[in-house]
Amino acid sequence: MKKWILQITQDFYQEALNDPLIGYQFRKIEDFDQHIQRIAQFWSHRLYHTAKPNPNVQFQQSHLKLNLNRGELGRWLVLFEKQIQNYQETHPELKNELNRWWQMVRDFEQVMLQTEGMFKSR
Ligand code: HEM
Repeated sequence: MKKWILQITQDFYQEALNDPLIGYQFRKIEDFDQHIQRIAQFWSHRLYHTAKPNPNVQFQQSHLKLNLNRGELGRWLVLFEKQIQNYQETHPELKNELNRWWQMVRDFEQVMLQTEGMFKSR
């Protein structure tokens, strides 16, 4: 796996874990190191087209049980975008890859928004 995929994933989850709005969701995870490895693998497969077919089902299921609200999704996206931007400042040569990564994140945002029952109704 590329070093920067793991680095960005680690930096993101470190910040998310300490976040006053969404940190509680991540503090529920029992084996955090293993989680980070799994997520970094997920992105690595996505970015380099080695994902298995139908990977959205597990993605949806993992998040359905979190009982999220839309504000939490918004916060997640702000934190993630910040990591991508920070990394790009020091590694301009990764611009295309990082743009591609951010676009994939926006696609997952759409998957979430279109999944029935994903968000608490107000
Ligand atoms: C576009 C937005 C998001 C993306 C791309 C994303 C990505 C992922 C991925 C790839 C997984 C692993 C899925 C699996 O294989 O089980 C995961 C799990 C998880 N995500 Fe997200 N996520 C997003 C939004 C959120 C939000 C808004 C929260 C909470 C504030 C959240 C909290 C979690 C937690 C707690 C898990 C672990 C679930 C478990 O293992 O039981 N995610 N996320």
